[in-house]
Amino acid sequence: MSRSASYGSAAAAPSEVRPLIPAQGNGRRLQQRLTALQQEVAEVVEEAVESGSHTNGPRVRALEEAFKAYLQVADAIAVNSGSSALRAACELLRLPPGSEIIVPAYTFIMTAYSVNDAFAFDPQSGTLTKGGLIPVFVDIDPQTYTIDPASVREALSERTAALIAVHMLGQMADMRPLLELADEHRLFVIEDAAQAHGATYCDPRTHHIYYAGSMGDCGCFSLSDVKNIGSMGSDAGLLTLTTRLGSRLPFLSAEARAWRNTGRLGRHRYEHQTWGIRARMDEYSAAECLAQLRYLDSWVARRQQIAARYSAALAGTSFTAPYIAPGRRHAFFNYMVKAPTLEARHLLESRLRAAGIQVADTYSVVPDQPLYRQGQLPCRVVTTERAREVARLLVAIPCYPELREEEIARIEEVLSRCP
Ligand SMILES: Cc1ncc(COP(=O)(O)O)c(C=O)c1O
Repeated sequence: MSRSASYGSAAAAPSEVRPLIPAQGNGRRLQQRLTALQQEVAEVVEEAVESGSHTNGPRVRALEEAFKAYLQVADAIAVNSGSSALRAACELLRLPPGSEIIVPAYTFIMTAYSVNDAFAFDPQSGTLTKGGLIPVFVDIDPQTYTIDPASVREALSERTAALIAVHMLGQMADMRPLLELADEHRLFVIEDAAQAHGATYCDPRTHHIYYAGSMGDCGCFSLSDVKNIGSMGSDAGLLTLTTRLGSRLPFLSAEARAWRNTGRLGRHRYEHQTWGIRARMDEYSAAECLAQLRYLDSWVARRQQIAARYSAALAGTSFTAPYIAPGRRHAFFNYMVKAPTLEARHLLESRLRAAGIQVADTYSVVPDQPLYRQGQLPCRVVTTERAREVARLLVAIPCYPELREEEIARIEEVLSRCP
């Protein structure tokens, strides 16, 4: 719960005293779910007293099955964070040292860091090497703020092994051209669906509607407390595997389960047949995520309703409301408004604060962060211009199902007064 404190700088003193509208709804969600949660926790504790185990138990298995059915994927493996899911995806594909993985420049840093963090696998010697996988940063689409397929094409090299399609802010990346590019160049497609639970994409070729995390080879979900659904207070995540993986699928299913559990394939606690880290999900997180999955579609629908009201309020102003690409269902993990200039961004932010509305920090351009800019970790930067413009001008507006009518109206009022 302490993480809510990192969302947004403290609000400036409001001109009239009105209760602060938090940037994120995680605190309120916890408050609303407390009674149900207490009961779940009591049950898990009781079982754990008998079994001696709080992790990878029946609720974790039930969550995996529920996600599998909801997303219509071949497998779902619960882990302890979205970052672990990303690292597992990069690592378990056994890419050789020197492989490049294309990522958008506009994302949360863990998309790229997970690439650097993952072992490369030398098929000749069978050895694992750190530092062998290189993120390659490319630009985003100027309207959806998701990875731009044309920029991915420009960045291809003989070392490109995979790309990560980040479904940024809750809208899926343009998967059809990305998958075609991947098929043409024999690349893996990893979906970073950390922000996109419940988002969908209608494939323009087949007209089939896919959930985020079900179109690429692997999907990576964060289930931390601030996400559209997530564990309360602790980190959690989930890795999906799809039929695109073909004959690798059974092997990867088993490997991923071993990987999250220190490389154990069997039941013996201290026999480690393969490699892996501590990335198990606990039963409390699983129980809570499982309960929330039932509400996901209705919560996303509520986010969309609120988003539509904000966009209507912005009509006729010089600010740009989020663009929803045809055939896509935006899950509105974030509602971000693009200001026409930096001055206009600051003006809107100060008006929001003055109205008692918390303003969250917004994402930065990852290759501009010291970790990459100062060469602490290897990367290759191709294009970042549009990512820079977007990072400079976006303003985050609170948008979550727990907002009250008075609060939505207060936010609409500020947005409608934008120049
Ligand atoms: C786009 C993106 N990728 C990866 C992650 C990492 O997920 P986690 O915080 O669960 O490790 C996040 C978390 O917010 C994210 O937004």
